[in-house]
Amino acid sequence: MIVKDKFETDGFLVIESFNSDEMCDNLMRQGQLLSSQYDFKGHPSVFQTSEQAKTTDDYFLNSGDKISYFFEKDAFDGEGKLTKDLFHSLNKIGHALHDIDPVFNQFSRSPKMKTLINELGLNNHVIIQSMLILKHAKIGGVVDIHQDSSFLYTEPNSCIGFWFALEDATIDNGCMWAMIGGHKTSLRSWFKRKDDNSTEMHQFNNDEFTTDGMIPLEVKKGACIVLNGLLPHYSLPNTSNKSRQAYAIHTIDKNAYYPSENWLRRDLNELKGFE
Ligand code: FE2
Repeated sequence: MIVKDKFETDGFLVIESFNSDEMCDNLMRQGQLLSSQYDFKGHPSVFQTSEQAKTTDDYFLNSGDKISYFFEKDAFDGEGKLTKDLFHSLNKIGHALHDIDPVFNQFSRSPKMKTLINELGLNNHVIIQSMLILKHAKIGGVVDIHQDSSFLYTEPNSCIGFWFALEDATIDNGCMWAMIGGHKTSLRSWFKRKDDNSTEMHQFNNDEFTTDGMIPLEVKKGACIVLNGLLPHYSLPNTSNKSRQAYAIHTIDKNAYYPSENWLRRDLNELKGFE
C-alpha cells in the first residue's frame, strides 16, 4: 500500500530509520545547548496536559513564536527549588524552534521531510509548532489521552503531527500509544483562548476516550511517526533509567481557517512550509 493510503487508513504511520543517528544526536545536543542558555529566574511554567486549563499562564500563551522552556511538575521541592539540574528538570522546549533555531530548522525541513510531505500530498501544509520533548529518566511525566487537533484547531480539520524519536522509545520509557484506525472519530474538544487570555477546554461532545485497543508504538531512535490530528494518543510516565527524547512538529493546511481562539497565535502569512 502506498504511504498516503496507509496513513489515511490507519491514522498514523511509523517509518523506522527516517533520520540518521547523527541527526538525532545533533538535535539533542542543540536542545541541551539551548537549555544551558536559558536564564531561569522567575515563575516556572509547568507543562501538564491533565490540568492544562488550570496551569496555563502568559509564558505558555506567548511561546508560539519563541523558544520557551517548560518544567516537569515534579521538578521542584516544597520550597520551589529545582531538585535536579535545569536540563533534567525540563519537560519540553517549544514552540517555534523550527523557525528560530537553525539546527531545528534544518532538521524540520530535511530533504526526507520534503519527500514525505509530497508523498502524503501535504504540499499546502505549513509548520505551525515544534517542540523538543525530553521525557527524562524517572521524571518524564504522563501525557494524557488527547487529539492534537484540540490544540491546533482548523476548519476543516487539517492538523498533522510528525513525531521523531531521538532515542529508542519503549514501553518502559514511556513510548506513545495509539489505535490503528483511531482517527475515524470526532474531535472531542478545543483548547480555546478567551479574550481575557484565560483558557478553557471547550467540549464538542462528551464521548469518553478509551485506551481499549491502543497499542504501544515502540520505535528505534531515528523513527518518524506521522499522526492524524484526530488520532487519540497518549504516553505514560518514564519510570525507567533511560530518557526518551523526541522532537515533534505540527503542520496545518495554510488554506484552512485558523480561528484566533486557538491558544497559539502566529501571523499566518509568516508560516513556512517545506520548500
Ligand atoms: Fe499529541
